Amino acid sequence: MIDFKDRVVLVTGAGGGIGREHALEFGRRGAQVVVNDLGSDIRGEGSSDLAARVAAEINTAGGQAVSNNFSVSDPEQAKAMVKQAIDEFGRIDVVINNAGILRNRTFKNTTTDDFKLVVEVHLLGSAYVTHAAWPFMYEQNYGRVILTSSVSGIFGQFGQSAYGAAKMGMLGLMNVLSLEGRSHGIKVNCLSPGADTRMTALDKELGINPDKPRPQSHPKLVTPVALFLASEQAPTGMVIHGLSGRYLRSETYANKGIALSPDAVVEDLVENIDEVLDMSSARALSEPGNISLLGN
Ligand SMILES: NC(=O)c1ccc[n+]([C@@H]2O[C@H](COP(=O)([O-])OP(=O)(O)OC[C@H]3O[C@@H](n4cnc5c(N)ncnc54)[C@H](O)[C@@H]3O)[C@@H](O)[C@H]2O)c1
Repeated sequence: MIDFKDRVVLVTGAGGGIGREHALEFGRRGAQVVVNDLGSDIRGEGSSDLAARVAAEINTAGGQAVSNNFSVSDPEQAKAMVKQAIDEFGRIDVVINNAGILRNRTFKNTTTDDFKLVVEVHLLGSAYVTHAAWPFMYEQNYGRVILTSSVSGIFGQFGQSAYGAAKMGMLGLMNVLSLEGRSHGIKVNCLSPGADTRMTALDKELGINPDKPRPQSHPKLVTPVALFLASEQAPTGMVIHGLSGRYLRSETYANKGIALSPDAVVEDLVENIDEVLDMSSARALSEPGNISLLGN
């Protein structure tokens, strides 16, 4: 059995949906859990004590949890939630960046304020919380960071330009942090979920009731990925999806490409464009060194 005894886990946005399932399961498996949630509505407005309820559930079941209502999108509040972990439990081993909001609009109709807020909560919020925990992980030579991405960024989803940009930004952050964390036992990965929550219920056509998730799309089915990525056996620099009970990995590929002469102009590129676009020779770019191997 995979347990998290003596491990301190911070889960952001853990008052409901997927984050709540993560927090409860870490609690069941012996972790000391910091449950964070602003308790906002889906658009990021308002606040409530959702997090306190989840912490109470964990404690009532015999686990150990504390809670806070801090916002991940404020760097000082991000620091404060990590400080709470240190003050209450003495360390921080795992950060699960899960908090999120949605403001769906086509790019033409979105406002720059909405765009900014979505990026602030998802991408900057994840960076702020991770940045606050990073020195402690570095010092103790151990850490697990999970960034919640989405197929919306990795493959694209109509009406989610800011959300998709932020979710794809998680991969960029992961790629660099997984390199920088390697020498200090810090593993950084992306989790791409799919489950019935109030977020997916926003799309009325799907007919989802977040209070009665379909068994195959229950948010608790995402949690095994979070536990794996938080465990001793965690890889680093990977994107793992937990989509309605289906578990898979996705990767960035590039083809071999072509080398043109130093005096090449756009016409030379266009002349060879079929070869440039042909992905039949594509290879994974999971190691940065692979980029320099291209064309050899
Ligand atoms: N449900 C899915 O199918 C799906 C798919 C792809 C990605 N995701 C991602 O999974 C994560 C969890 O989403 P969910 O579906 O459980 O939705 P959810 O709305 O139930 O959970 C998100 C939680 O984040 C909290 N939150 C919002 N802003 C916050 C802030 N500034 N600081 C702290 N907490 C804040 C909310 O109060 C909420 O409880 C999100 O990052 C979401 O983008 C979900």
